[in-house]
Amino acid sequence: MNIKANVSLHALNTLALPGQAEFFSRVHNNDELAEALAYAQAHKLKVTVLGGGSNVILASNISGLVIQVATRGIERCEQGDHSKTLHWTAAAGENWHQFVQHTLAEKSYGLENLSLIPGLVGAAPIQNIGAYGLEISDRFVSLQALEISTGKTVRFSKSDCQFGYRESVFKQAAAGQFVVTSVTLALSEQPNVDISYPALAAALSTTSDIRQSSVPEGALSLGSAQISPQQVSEAVCRIREQKLPDPTLQPNAGSFFKNPVISKDRWQQLRGKYPELPGYPQLDGGVKLPAAWLIDQAGWKGAAGQGCSVHREHALVLVNNGGCSGRQLLQLAEDIIVDIERRFGILLAIEPQVLGLRGSL
Ligand code: EPU
Repeated sequence: MNIKANVSLHALNTLALPGQAEFFSRVHNNDELAEALAYAQAHKLKVTVLGGGSNVILASNISGLVIQVATRGIERCEQGDHSKTLHWTAAAGENWHQFVQHTLAEKSYGLENLSLIPGLVGAAPIQNIGAYGLEISDRFVSLQALEISTGKTVRFSKSDCQFGYRESVFKQAAAGQFVVTSVTLALSEQPNVDISYPALAAALSTTSDIRQSSVPEGALSLGSAQISPQQVSEAVCRIREQKLPDPTLQPNAGSFFKNPVISKDRWQQLRGKYPELPGYPQLDGGVKLPAAWLIDQAGWKGAAGQGCSVHREHALVLVNNGGCSGRQLLQLAEDIIVDIERRFGILLAIEPQVLGLRGSL
């Protein structure tokens, strides 16, 4: 086990925010992880788990032990039944997109809509990653985690995880208590693509990639052409590349705010005032609004804070223009939240996890 003191986390978060870990350990297998957790217990260090750093805001230096999980391994498990369902288990340190591509290459379908989401497998269930009409909870079977206080292995079923929109038990009642070590998902031998998300359907209907040939049996028809999971994956990648800035060029953490869900009555009231306001009905009767639309309407697109700004192409993304601190970025977010509440009466919530103390940089 290798534990270092005062390690810069600048290169380990995609917003490129400054900040140091008081102690830092990169673990390559579950034994090293258990040792690191035992060390933290023995020295009374708070444990912070870092995945790909693509969904975190470093608000300050991090006291205690920061553990980066770098475990690897992807395996196809025994089929549970005869329904053409395939179970795949990936280690927490696997890159999410590479895992998606691996399953597609192995003719296991069902994750194509979640292509190119940044980050690692272990972080995916924490915030129930989702895009283009699909969430990881839709494919979820179980996960394994180590309990931080005891080092014990615990299995979480789908219901244990209490998934919601960008939510799970790991952000609520079990926050800070577990480190995910592996995730098991149920995929299918049978392609069954879902292109109901309007932007995805639009991208596919205009794409030159739709070919009649080499389409697996069961692929969806769109007009006269058929669409394979691989084509859906490629279309998702193209949309994301067009809309979302590349963190290596413009440091960012994807969507900075959650899309708010309001009551149908409230939505109809707002629609009276803003006839263009989009809204997506939810199963619970509420209506989800695109926070990007609200922020865009309020004129924040491209607006600058100190060292950071709202992305010019997508109002939901904040970018670090170089040298910005976590506090400065959170100040820009706060200014947006206050303005959106004043204009629309809607309180936006920050989507990435804030690490460290908000006020202390
Ligand atoms: N819009 C604007 N202005 C903008 C951008 C978008 O008005 O600058 C409006 C448009 O009406 C558009 C709508 O917002 O139709 C929705 O935009 P988009 O399809 O880009 O989706 P989003 O709501 O901004 C969510 C997820 C993304 C996910 C996409 C696609 C959240 C917080 N974000 O974004 O997830 O990729 O849908 O499914 O739910 C992430 O979580 O980091 C992330 C990128």
